[in-house]
Amino acid sequence: MCKRFYITTAIDYVNGQPHLGHAYEKVITDVIARAQRALGRETFFLTGLDEHGQKVQQAAQAEGRDPQAYCDELAAVWQSFAVKLGLAHNDFIRTTQARHKTVVQAMLTKLRDQGELYKAPYRGWYSWKEETFLTDKDRQPDGTFDPVWGSVTELVEDNWFFRMSRHQRWLIEYLEAHPAFVQPDYRRNEVLGFLRHETLADLCISRPAARLSWGIPIPFAPEWVNYVWFDALTNYYSVPAAAGDPVALEPLRGYLDLPATDCRLWPADIHVIGKDILKFHAVYWPIMLHAVGAPLPQQVLVHGWWQKDDEKMSKSIGNVVEPGAVIDAWGLDAFRYYVVRELDIGSDGNWTDAGFAARYDAELANGLGNLVHRSLSMLKRYRGGIVPPRSDALAGEVHAAAETITALLSQGRLQAGLKTIWNLISRANQYVDHTAPFKLAKDPSQASRLDAVLYTLAETCRVLGVLLLPYLPDTAHKLFGQLGLAHPPDRIAAAAWGGLSPGQALGDITPLFPRREVRADR
Ligand code: ME8
Ligand code: MG
Repeated sequence: MCKRFYITTAIDYVNGQPHLGHAYEKVITDVIARAQRALGRETFFLTGLDEHGQKVQQAAQAEGRDPQAYCDELAAVWQSFAVKLGLAHNDFIRTTQARHKTVVQAMLTKLRDQGELYKAPYRGWYSWKEETFLTDKDRQPDGTFDPVWGSVTELVEDNWFFRMSRHQRWLIEYLEAHPAFVQPDYRRNEVLGFLRHETLADLCISRPAARLSWGIPIPFAPEWVNYVWFDALTNYYSVPAAAGDPVALEPLRGYLDLPATDCRLWPADIHVIGKDILKFHAVYWPIMLHAVGAPLPQQVLVHGWWQKDDEKMSKSIGNVVEPGAVIDAWGLDAFRYYVVRELDIGSDGNWTDAGFAARYDAELANGLGNLVHRSLSMLKRYRGGIVPPRSDALAGEVHAAAETITALLSQGRLQAGLKTIWNLISRANQYVDHTAPFKLAKDPSQASRLDAVLYTLAETCRVLGVLLLPYLPDTAHKLFGQLGLAHPPDRIAAAAWGGLSPGQALGDITPLFPRREVRADR
Protein backbone atom coordinates (compact mmCIF):
# COMPACT_ATOMS: atom_id res chain seq x y z
CA MET A 1 0.00 0.00 0.00
CA CYS A 2 1.30 3.49 -0.74
CA LYS A 3 1.84 6.04 2.01
CA ARG A 4 -1.44 7.55 3.14
CA PHE A 5 -1.98 11.19 3.96
CA TYR A 6 -1.90 11.07 7.74
CA ILE A 7 -3.48 13.93 9.70
CA THR A 8 -4.09 14.23 13.43
CA THR A 9 -5.75 16.53 15.95
CA ALA A 10 -4.56 17.19 19.46
CA ILE A 11 -5.99 14.62 21.84
CA ASP A 12 -8.33 16.32 24.27
CA TYR A 13 -8.17 15.98 28.02
CA VAL A 14 -10.79 13.40 28.81
CA ASN A 15 -11.93 15.23 31.94
CA GLY A 16 -12.59 18.52 30.15
CA GLN A 17 -15.84 19.70 28.59
CA PRO A 18 -16.11 19.46 24.81
CA HIS A 19 -16.34 23.11 23.75
CA LEU A 20 -16.01 25.38 20.74
CA GLY A 21 -12.21 25.25 20.71
CA HIS A 22 -12.16 21.46 20.58
CA ALA A 23 -14.90 21.41 17.96
CA TYR A 24 -13.14 23.97 15.78
CA GLU A 25 -9.91 22.01 15.70
CA LYS A 26 -11.68 18.79 14.86
CA VAL A 27 -13.79 20.37 12.13
CA ILE A 28 -10.88 22.06 10.32
CA THR A 29 -8.95 18.81 10.48
CA ASP A 30 -11.96 16.95 9.11
CA VAL A 31 -12.29 19.40 6.23
CA ILE A 32 -8.61 18.98 5.33
CA ALA A 33 -8.94 15.19 5.55
CA ARG A 34 -12.08 15.12 3.39
CA ALA A 35 -10.46 17.49 0.90
CA GLN A 36 -7.44 15.21 0.58
CA ARG A 37 -9.74 12.25 -0.02
CA ALA A 38 -11.64 14.23 -2.64
CA LEU A 39 -8.31 15.01 -4.29
CA GLY A 40 -7.76 11.28 -4.58
CA ARG A 41 -5.31 10.67 -1.73
CA GLU A 42 -5.75 7.78 0.64
CA THR A 43 -6.16 9.58 3.93
CA PHE A 44 -6.03 8.60 7.57
CA PHE A 45 -7.51 10.96 10.13
CA LEU A 46 -6.71 10.32 13.78
CA THR A 47 -8.28 11.97 16.78
CA GLY A 48 -8.67 10.85 20.37
CA LEU A 49 -8.23 11.43 24.07
CA ASP A 50 -5.51 12.18 26.57
CA GLU A 51 -6.53 10.14 29.62
CA HIS A 52 -3.63 9.97 32.07
CA GLY A 53 -2.39 12.39 34.68
CA GLN A 54 -3.01 14.05 37.95
CA LYS A 55 -6.27 15.77 37.12
CA VAL A 56 -7.96 12.59 35.95
CA GLN A 57 -6.68 10.69 38.95
CA GLN A 58 -7.93 13.40 41.31
CA ALA A 59 -11.30 13.74 39.59
CA ALA A 60 -11.88 9.98 39.69
CA GLN A 61 -10.81 9.85 43.34
CA ALA A 62 -13.15 12.70 44.23
CA GLU A 63 -16.02 10.60 42.88
CA GLY A 64 -14.68 7.49 44.59
CA ARG A 65 -14.25 5.80 41.23
CA ASP A 66 -11.71 3.69 39.48
CA PRO A 67 -9.90 6.00 37.03
CA GLN A 68 -10.31 3.60 34.11
CA ALA A 69 -14.06 3.32 34.64
CA TYR A 70 -14.19 7.11 34.98
CA CYS A 71 -12.32 7.54 31.67
CA ASP A 72 -14.46 4.94 29.90
CA GLU A 73 -17.59 6.86 30.78
CA LEU A 74 -16.17 10.21 29.63
CA ALA A 75 -14.67 8.69 26.50
CA ALA A 76 -18.16 7.68 25.38
CA VAL A 77 -19.20 11.35 25.63
CA TRP A 78 -16.23 12.47 23.53
CA GLN A 79 -16.79 9.77 20.95
CA SER A 80 -20.38 10.81 20.47
CA PHE A 81 -19.15 14.42 20.22
CA ALA A 82 -16.96 13.37 17.27
CA VAL A 83 -20.03 11.84 15.61
CA LYS A 84 -22.06 14.96 16.33
CA LEU A 85 -19.41 17.06 14.53
CA GLY A 86 -19.70 14.81 11.49
CA LEU A 87 -16.06 13.77 11.66
CA ALA A 88 -14.95 11.15 9.18
CA HIS A 89 -12.06 9.98 11.33
CA ASN A 90 -10.43 6.61 10.77
CA ASP A 91 -9.40 5.88 14.32
CA PHE A 92 -9.90 7.19 17.82
CA ILE A 93 -6.96 6.75 20.16
CA ARG A 94 -7.26 6.64 23.91
CA THR A 95 -3.97 6.83 25.74
CA THR A 96 -5.13 4.16 28.18
CA GLN A 97 -5.25 1.60 25.36
CA ALA A 98 -2.71 -1.22 25.42
CA ARG A 99 -1.61 -0.50 21.85
CA HIS A 100 -0.46 2.93 22.96
CA LYS A 101 1.18 1.94 26.25
CA THR A 102 3.45 -0.63 24.62
CA VAL A 103 4.72 1.95 22.13
CA VAL A 104 5.39 4.54 24.82
CA GLN A 105 7.27 1.95 26.84
CA ALA A 106 9.31 0.84 23.82
CA MET A 107 10.28 4.46 23.17
CA LEU A 108 11.32 4.99 26.77
CA THR A 109 13.44 1.84 26.86
CA LYS A 110 15.20 2.67 23.63
CA LEU A 111 15.92 6.20 24.82
CA ARG A 112 17.32 4.80 28.09
CA ASP A 113 19.55 2.33 26.20
CA GLN A 114 20.85 5.14 24.03
CA GLY A 115 21.87 7.20 27.05
CA GLU A 116 19.16 9.79 26.50
CA LEU A 117 17.67 9.34 29.98
CA TYR A 118 19.19 9.75 33.41
CA LYS A 119 17.94 9.75 36.98
CA ALA A 120 18.48 12.79 39.19
CA PRO A 121 16.89 14.56 42.12
CA TYR A 122 14.40 17.15 41.12
CA ARG A 123 13.57 20.09 43.31
CA GLY A 124 10.99 22.57 42.24
CA TRP A 125 7.76 24.40 42.57
CA TYR A 126 4.98 22.17 41.39
CA SER A 127 1.57 23.22 40.14
CA TRP A 128 -0.79 20.39 40.92
CA LYS A 129 -3.50 21.83 38.76
CA GLU A 130 -1.39 22.13 35.62
CA GLU A 131 0.83 19.14 36.42
CA THR A 132 3.98 21.03 35.77
CA PHE A 133 6.96 22.32 37.67
CA LEU A 134 7.16 26.09 37.62
CA THR A 135 10.28 28.21 37.48
CA ASP A 136 11.15 31.60 38.89
CA LYS A 137 10.08 33.06 35.57
CA ASP A 138 6.53 32.03 36.36
CA ARG A 139 6.49 34.19 39.47
CA GLN A 140 4.55 37.44 39.58
CA PRO A 141 6.36 40.67 40.53
CA ASP A 142 5.37 40.09 44.17
CA GLY A 143 7.01 36.64 44.13
CA THR A 144 3.82 34.61 44.24
CA PHE A 145 2.50 32.36 41.52
CA ASP A 146 -0.55 33.36 39.51
CA PRO A 147 -3.75 31.75 40.81
CA VAL A 148 -4.20 30.05 37.41
CA TRP A 149 -1.56 27.56 38.59
CA GLY A 150 -3.72 26.53 41.54
CA SER A 151 -1.91 25.24 44.57
CA VAL A 152 1.90 25.39 44.17
CA THR A 153 4.19 23.53 46.59
CA GLU A 154 7.93 22.79 46.68
CA LEU A 155 8.77 19.20 45.84
CA VAL A 156 12.09 17.32 45.97
CA GLU A 157 12.08 13.90 44.43
CA ASP A 158 14.15 11.58 42.24
CA ASN A 159 13.00 11.53 38.66
CA TRP A 160 14.00 10.55 35.16
CA PHE A 161 15.21 13.21 32.78
CA PHE A 162 15.43 13.31 29.01
CA ARG A 163 18.57 14.96 27.62
CA MET A 164 16.67 17.41 25.48
CA SER A 165 19.24 20.15 25.70
CA ARG A 166 21.76 18.23 23.61
CA HIS A 167 19.38 18.38 20.63
CA GLN A 168 18.74 22.11 20.72
CA ARG A 169 21.27 23.02 18.01
CA TRP A 170 20.01 20.25 15.79
CA LEU A 171 16.41 21.45 16.17
CA ILE A 172 17.28 25.05 15.29
CA GLU A 173 19.00 23.86 12.15
CA TYR A 174 16.11 21.59 11.33
CA LEU A 175 13.57 24.39 11.65
CA GLU A 176 15.75 26.70 9.58
CA ALA A 177 16.03 24.11 6.84
CA HIS A 178 12.34 23.12 6.89
CA PRO A 179 10.23 26.29 6.78
CA ALA A 180 7.01 24.30 6.35
CA PHE A 181 7.53 22.30 9.54
CA VAL A 182 5.68 24.85 11.68
CA GLN A 183 2.91 26.88 10.07
CA PRO A 184 1.83 29.69 9.92
CA ASP A 185 5.25 31.37 9.60
CA TYR A 186 4.70 33.61 12.62
CA ARG A 187 4.42 30.50 14.78
CA ARG A 188 7.63 29.11 13.31
CA ASN A 189 9.37 32.40 14.10
CA GLU A 190 8.06 32.22 17.63
CA VAL A 191 9.62 28.77 18.10
CA LEU A 192 12.90 29.80 16.51
CA GLY A 193 13.04 32.94 18.63
CA PHE A 194 12.56 30.90 21.76
CA LEU A 195 15.17 28.31 20.77
CA ARG A 196 17.76 30.91 19.83
CA HIS A 197 17.39 32.92 23.02
CA GLU A 198 16.86 30.34 25.70
CA THR A 199 18.73 27.23 26.70
CA LEU A 200 16.53 24.19 26.75
CA ALA A 201 16.48 22.40 30.06
CA ASP A 202 16.43 18.63 30.15
CA LEU A 203 12.86 17.43 30.42
CA CYS A 204 11.62 15.65 33.50
CA ILE A 205 9.71 12.71 32.00
CA SER A 206 8.67 10.79 35.08
CA ARG A 207 6.50 11.21 38.14
CA PRO A 208 6.82 9.08 41.25
CA ALA A 209 4.03 6.51 41.18
CA ALA A 210 3.63 7.13 44.90
CA ARG A 211 1.97 10.48 44.25
CA LEU A 212 0.71 9.86 40.74
CA SER A 213 -0.16 6.31 39.82
CA TRP A 214 -2.47 7.09 36.88
CA GLY A 215 0.08 6.92 34.10
CA ILE A 216 2.14 4.54 32.02
CA PRO A 217 4.78 2.82 34.18
CA ILE A 218 8.39 3.49 33.21
CA PRO A 219 9.21 -0.07 32.06
CA PHE A 220 12.70 -0.25 33.59
CA ALA A 221 11.76 1.68 36.76
CA PRO A 222 8.13 1.00 37.67
CA GLU A 223 8.30 3.16 40.81
CA TRP A 224 7.71 5.97 38.33
CA VAL A 225 5.08 6.62 35.71
CA ASN A 226 5.63 8.55 32.51
CA TYR A 227 5.03 12.32 32.39
CA VAL A 228 1.66 12.83 30.74
CA TRP A 229 2.92 15.03 27.88
CA PHE A 230 5.53 12.48 26.79
CA ASP A 231 2.75 9.89 26.85
CA ALA A 232 0.26 12.12 25.02
CA LEU A 233 2.57 13.23 22.20
CA THR A 234 3.44 9.63 21.45
CA ASN A 235 -0.19 8.90 20.48
CA TYR A 236 0.50 10.09 16.94
CA TYR A 237 3.17 7.44 16.63
CA SER A 238 1.58 4.58 18.54
CA VAL A 239 -1.31 4.21 16.11
CA PRO A 240 0.90 3.58 13.07
CA ALA A 241 3.39 1.50 15.06
CA ALA A 242 0.70 -0.68 16.60
CA ALA A 243 -0.89 -1.12 13.18
CA GLY A 244 2.41 -2.50 11.89
CA ASP A 245 3.60 0.46 9.80
CA PRO A 246 7.16 -0.62 8.95
CA VAL A 247 8.45 2.97 8.96
CA ALA A 248 7.17 3.45 12.51
CA LEU A 249 8.35 0.04 13.67
CA GLU A 250 11.89 0.26 12.30
CA PRO A 251 13.31 2.63 14.97
CA LEU A 252 11.76 0.46 17.69
CA ARG A 253 13.08 -2.84 16.38
CA GLY A 254 14.09 -5.00 19.33
CA TYR A 255 11.83 -2.96 21.60
CA LEU A 256 8.40 -3.66 20.17
CA ASP A 257 7.61 -7.19 19.13
CA LEU A 258 5.05 -6.56 16.40
CA PRO A 259 4.88 -7.86 12.83
CA ALA A 260 5.11 -5.35 10.01
CA THR A 261 2.00 -5.01 7.84
CA ASP A 262 1.23 -3.06 4.69
CA CYS A 263 0.06 -0.09 6.79
CA ARG A 264 1.85 3.06 5.59
CA LEU A 265 1.14 6.14 7.70
CA TRP A 266 4.28 7.48 9.30
CA PRO A 267 5.56 10.17 9.08
CA ALA A 268 2.41 12.18 9.76
CA ASP A 269 1.63 14.84 7.18
CA ILE A 270 -0.06 17.32 9.50
CA HIS A 271 -0.51 17.62 13.25
CA VAL A 272 -3.28 20.18 13.80
CA ILE A 273 -3.00 21.85 17.21
CA GLY A 274 -3.87 25.04 19.06
CA LYS A 275 -1.37 27.78 19.77
CA ASP A 276 -1.14 27.03 23.49
CA ILE A 277 0.55 23.67 22.89
CA LEU A 278 3.02 24.82 20.27
CA LYS A 279 6.14 24.24 22.37
CA PHE A 280 5.19 20.64 23.07
CA HIS A 281 4.70 19.92 19.38
CA ALA A 282 7.41 22.04 17.82
CA VAL A 283 10.15 21.47 20.42
CA TYR A 284 9.59 18.40 22.59
CA TRP A 285 7.99 16.16 19.97
CA PRO A 286 10.56 16.58 17.17
CA ILE A 287 13.37 16.09 19.70
CA MET A 288 11.74 12.92 21.03
CA LEU A 289 11.42 11.52 17.52
CA HIS A 290 14.91 12.57 16.53
CA ALA A 291 16.42 10.98 19.64
CA VAL A 292 14.60 7.73 18.97
CA GLY A 293 15.67 7.77 15.32
CA ALA A 294 12.23 8.24 13.76
CA PRO A 295 11.38 10.44 10.78
CA LEU A 296 9.72 13.74 11.65
CA PRO A 297 6.19 14.76 10.71
CA GLN A 298 5.88 17.09 7.73
CA GLN A 299 4.01 19.83 9.52
CA VAL A 300 2.65 21.18 12.76
CA LEU A 301 -0.30 23.38 11.78
CA VAL A 302 -1.18 25.82 14.54
CA HIS A 303 -4.65 27.30 14.79
CA GLY A 304 -5.76 30.25 16.89
CA TRP A 305 -8.04 30.43 19.88
CA TRP A 306 -11.69 31.31 20.10
CA GLN A 307 -13.19 33.74 22.52
CA LYS A 308 -16.86 34.50 23.09
CA ASP A 309 -17.94 38.17 22.98
CA ASP A 310 -14.29 39.25 23.35
CA GLU A 311 -13.81 37.30 26.55
CA LYS A 312 -12.02 34.07 27.29
CA MET A 313 -14.58 31.28 27.52
CA SER A 314 -14.82 29.97 31.03
CA LYS A 315 -17.23 27.95 33.05
CA SER A 316 -17.17 30.56 35.82
CA ILE A 317 -18.21 33.40 33.48
CA GLY A 318 -20.71 30.99 31.96
CA ASN A 319 -19.89 32.02 28.39
CA VAL A 320 -18.75 28.68 27.02
CA VAL A 321 -20.08 28.03 23.51
CA GLU A 322 -21.43 24.50 23.47
CA PRO A 323 -21.19 23.18 19.94
CA GLY A 324 -23.75 20.47 20.64
CA ALA A 325 -26.40 23.04 21.54
CA VAL A 326 -25.59 25.17 18.47
CA ILE A 327 -25.82 22.10 16.24
CA ASP A 328 -29.16 21.10 17.77
CA ALA A 329 -30.55 24.57 17.17
CA TRP A 330 -29.09 25.39 13.77
CA GLY A 331 -27.85 22.16 12.21
CA LEU A 332 -24.40 20.65 11.89
CA ASP A 333 -23.42 22.34 8.66
CA ALA A 334 -24.39 25.79 9.91
CA PHE A 335 -21.88 25.26 12.71
CA ARG A 336 -19.18 23.85 10.43
CA TYR A 337 -19.71 26.68 7.98
CA TYR A 338 -19.45 29.42 10.56
CA VAL A 339 -16.25 28.24 12.20
CA VAL A 340 -14.41 27.58 8.97
CA ARG A 341 -15.63 30.76 7.26
CA GLU A 342 -15.00 33.03 10.22
CA LEU A 343 -11.29 32.31 10.76
CA ASP A 344 -8.27 31.77 8.63
CA ILE A 345 -6.26 28.93 10.22
CA GLY A 346 -3.87 30.64 12.63
CA SER A 347 -5.91 33.70 13.57
CA ASP A 348 -7.84 34.02 16.79
CA GLY A 349 -11.60 34.14 16.60
CA ASN A 350 -14.43 35.78 18.44
CA TRP A 351 -17.76 34.00 18.55
CA THR A 352 -20.85 36.16 18.77
CA ASP A 353 -24.37 34.77 18.51
CA ALA A 354 -25.32 37.75 16.36
CA GLY A 355 -22.42 37.13 13.98
CA PHE A 356 -23.40 33.50 13.72
CA ALA A 357 -27.03 34.34 12.95
CA ALA A 358 -25.98 36.98 10.44
CA ARG A 359 -23.83 34.54 8.48
CA TYR A 360 -26.60 31.97 8.65
CA ASP A 361 -29.16 34.35 7.20
CA ALA A 362 -27.01 36.07 4.59
CA GLU A 363 -24.72 33.32 3.42
CA LEU A 364 -26.52 30.05 4.08
CA ALA A 365 -30.24 30.85 3.88
CA ASN A 366 -30.16 33.73 1.37
CA GLY A 367 -26.99 32.73 -0.45
CA LEU A 368 -26.60 29.00 -0.98
CA GLY A 369 -30.04 27.96 0.22
CA ASN A 370 -31.91 30.45 -1.93
CA LEU A 371 -29.88 29.66 -5.04
CA VAL A 372 -30.51 25.93 -4.80
CA HIS A 373 -34.15 26.31 -3.83
CA ARG A 374 -35.17 28.70 -6.55
CA SER A 375 -33.09 26.99 -9.23
CA LEU A 376 -34.56 23.56 -8.57
CA SER A 377 -38.08 24.87 -7.88
CA MET A 378 -38.16 26.58 -11.27
CA LEU A 379 -36.87 23.44 -12.93
CA LYS A 380 -39.74 21.56 -11.24
CA ARG A 381 -42.33 24.14 -12.12
CA TYR A 382 -41.35 24.86 -15.72
CA ARG A 383 -39.92 21.51 -16.82
CA GLY A 384 -41.59 18.98 -14.55
CA GLY A 385 -38.31 18.41 -12.74
CA ILE A 386 -36.64 16.89 -15.79
CA VAL A 387 -33.16 18.24 -16.59
CA PRO A 388 -33.23 19.98 -20.01
CA PRO A 389 -30.53 19.72 -22.71
CA ARG A 390 -27.04 20.80 -21.75
CA SER A 391 -26.00 24.41 -21.90
CA ASP A 392 -22.54 25.81 -21.29
CA ALA A 393 -23.58 29.34 -20.38
CA LEU A 394 -21.59 29.52 -17.14
CA ALA A 395 -19.23 26.64 -17.94
CA GLY A 396 -16.14 28.82 -18.20
CA GLU A 397 -16.72 30.74 -15.00
CA VAL A 398 -17.69 27.68 -13.02
CA HIS A 399 -14.67 25.80 -14.31
CA ALA A 400 -12.32 28.61 -13.31
CA ALA A 401 -13.86 28.79 -9.84
CA ALA A 402 -13.64 25.01 -9.39
CA GLU A 403 -9.95 25.06 -10.35
CA THR A 404 -9.23 27.79 -7.82
CA ILE A 405 -11.18 26.03 -5.07
CA THR A 406 -9.45 22.73 -5.80
CA ALA A 407 -6.06 24.42 -5.53
CA LEU A 408 -7.00 26.17 -2.28
CA LEU A 409 -8.28 22.92 -0.77
CA SER A 410 -5.11 21.10 -1.69
CA GLN A 411 -3.14 23.82 0.13
CA GLY A 412 -5.38 23.60 3.20
CA ARG A 413 -6.57 27.19 2.65
CA LEU A 414 -10.05 26.44 3.86
CA GLN A 415 -11.39 29.93 4.45
CA ALA A 416 -10.19 31.16 1.06
CA GLY A 417 -11.82 28.12 -0.53
CA LEU A 418 -15.17 28.92 1.08
CA LYS A 419 -14.95 32.56 0.01
CA THR A 420 -14.40 31.45 -3.57
CA ILE A 421 -17.36 29.07 -3.37
CA TRP A 422 -19.52 31.92 -2.11
CA ASN A 423 -18.35 34.17 -4.92
CA LEU A 424 -19.63 31.53 -7.28
CA ILE A 425 -22.93 31.36 -5.40
CA SER A 426 -23.33 35.14 -5.70
CA ARG A 427 -22.52 34.95 -9.38
CA ALA A 428 -25.16 32.27 -9.92
CA ASN A 429 -27.76 34.23 -7.93
CA GLN A 430 -26.94 37.23 -10.10
CA TYR A 431 -27.38 35.05 -13.17
CA VAL A 432 -30.91 34.20 -12.02
CA ASP A 433 -31.70 37.89 -11.59
CA HIS A 434 -30.24 38.83 -14.98
CA THR A 435 -31.80 36.02 -17.00
CA ALA A 436 -35.14 36.24 -15.14
CA PRO A 437 -36.34 32.71 -15.94
CA PHE A 438 -39.73 33.55 -14.41
CA LYS A 439 -40.21 36.03 -17.26
CA LEU A 440 -38.84 33.66 -19.90
CA ALA A 441 -41.38 31.09 -18.73
CA LYS A 442 -44.21 33.38 -19.76
CA ASP A 443 -43.02 33.60 -23.35
CA PRO A 444 -43.24 30.33 -25.34
CA SER A 445 -40.77 31.66 -27.95
CA GLN A 446 -38.11 31.69 -25.19
CA ALA A 447 -38.42 27.97 -24.43
CA SER A 448 -34.91 26.99 -25.48
CA ARG A 449 -33.44 30.01 -23.71
CA LEU A 450 -35.28 28.90 -20.58
CA ASP A 451 -33.92 25.36 -21.02
CA ALA A 452 -30.41 26.77 -21.16
CA VAL A 453 -30.87 28.87 -18.03
CA LEU A 454 -32.41 26.01 -16.06
CA TYR A 455 -29.70 23.55 -17.08
CA THR A 456 -27.02 26.08 -16.20
CA LEU A 457 -28.48 26.65 -12.77
CA ALA A 458 -29.03 22.99 -11.93
CA GLU A 459 -25.54 22.08 -13.11
CA THR A 460 -24.04 24.95 -11.12
CA CYS A 461 -25.84 23.56 -8.05
CA ARG A 462 -24.38 20.12 -8.75
CA VAL A 463 -20.86 21.52 -9.04
CA LEU A 464 -21.39 23.41 -5.78
CA GLY A 465 -22.39 20.14 -4.12
CA VAL A 466 -19.12 18.55 -5.21
CA LEU A 467 -17.06 21.51 -4.01
CA LEU A 468 -18.91 21.77 -0.71
CA LEU A 469 -18.53 18.10 0.18
CA PRO A 470 -15.38 18.47 2.32
CA TYR A 471 -16.87 21.42 4.20
CA LEU A 472 -20.56 20.62 4.50
CA PRO A 473 -20.99 16.90 3.89
CA ASP A 474 -24.65 16.75 5.00
CA THR A 475 -25.59 19.65 2.77
CA ALA A 476 -23.79 18.10 -0.19
CA HIS A 477 -25.72 14.87 0.36
CA LYS A 478 -29.04 16.70 0.61
CA LEU A 479 -28.27 18.75 -2.48
CA PHE A 480 -27.47 15.64 -4.48
CA GLY A 481 -30.65 14.00 -3.22
CA GLN A 482 -32.63 17.01 -4.48
CA LEU A 483 -30.92 16.68 -7.85
CA GLY A 484 -32.18 13.10 -7.91
CA LEU A 485 -28.68 11.65 -7.59
CA ALA A 486 -27.83 9.00 -5.03
CA HIS A 487 -24.90 10.73 -3.35
CA PRO A 488 -22.13 13.21 -4.16
CA PRO A 489 -19.19 11.81 -6.10
CA ASP A 490 -16.19 11.21 -3.85
CA ARG A 491 -13.77 12.97 -6.20
CA ILE A 492 -13.52 16.70 -6.66
CA ALA A 493 -12.69 16.09 -10.32
CA ALA A 494 -16.43 15.47 -10.74
CA ALA A 495 -16.83 19.25 -10.49
CA ALA A 496 -16.04 19.37 -14.21
CA TRP A 497 -18.92 21.03 -16.07
CA GLY A 498 -21.55 18.84 -17.69
CA GLY A 499 -21.94 16.11 -15.11
CA LEU A 500 -25.70 16.51 -14.93
CA SER A 501 -27.42 14.37 -17.57
CA PRO A 502 -30.31 15.80 -19.55
CA GLY A 503 -33.42 13.75 -18.85
CA GLN A 504 -32.44 13.25 -15.22
CA ALA A 505 -35.40 13.63 -12.82
CA LEU A 506 -35.03 15.79 -9.71
CA GLY A 507 -35.81 14.46 -6.25
CA ASP A 508 -37.85 16.23 -3.58
CA ILE A 509 -36.95 19.83 -2.92
CA THR A 510 -36.80 21.37 0.54
CA PRO A 511 -34.89 24.44 1.72
CA LEU A 512 -31.34 23.49 2.75
CA PHE A 513 -31.15 26.31 5.31
CA PRO A 514 -34.62 27.44 6.37
CA ARG A 515 -34.84 31.15 7.10
CA ARG A 516 -34.76 31.95 10.79
CA GLU A 517 -36.04 35.54 10.97
CA VAL A 518 -38.97 34.44 13.11
CA ARG A 519 -36.96 32.56 15.67
CA ALA A 520 -38.42 33.20 19.09
CA ASP A 521 -35.07 33.15 20.86
CA ARG A 522 -33.52 36.03 18.95
O1 ME8 B 1 -4.02 20.50 25.48
N1 ME8 B 1 -9.96 27.87 20.98
O2 ME8 B 1 -5.89 19.16 25.61
P1 ME8 B 1 -7.04 20.26 25.70
C1 ME8 B 1 -9.35 27.07 20.10
N2 ME8 B 1 -4.45 17.03 26.01
N3 ME8 B 1 -8.76 25.91 20.43
C2 ME8 B 1 -8.81 25.54 21.71
C3 ME8 B 1 -9.46 26.31 22.69
C4 ME8 B 1 -10.06 27.54 22.27
N4 ME8 B 1 -10.70 28.35 23.11
N5 ME8 B 1 -9.35 25.65 23.87
C5 ME8 B 1 -8.65 24.51 23.63
C6 ME8 B 1 -4.55 19.41 25.57
N6 ME8 B 1 -8.33 24.45 22.33
C7 ME8 B 1 -3.70 18.16 25.53
C8 ME8 B 1 -3.24 17.95 24.10
S1 ME8 B 1 -1.89 16.60 22.23
C9 ME8 B 1 -0.67 15.43 22.25
C10 ME8 B 1 -2.33 16.76 23.93
C11 ME8 B 1 -7.54 23.40 21.67
O3 ME8 B 1 -8.28 19.47 25.85
C12 ME8 B 1 -6.13 23.33 22.25
O4 ME8 B 1 -5.33 24.34 21.68
O5 ME8 B 1 -6.71 21.30 26.72
C13 ME8 B 1 -5.71 21.94 21.85
O6 ME8 B 1 -5.16 21.92 20.55
C14 ME8 B 1 -7.03 21.16 21.88
O7 ME8 B 1 -8.09 22.13 21.92
C15 ME8 B 1 -7.15 20.25 23.08
O8 ME8 B 1 -7.01 20.99 24.28
MG1 MG C 1 -6.02 23.08 27.37
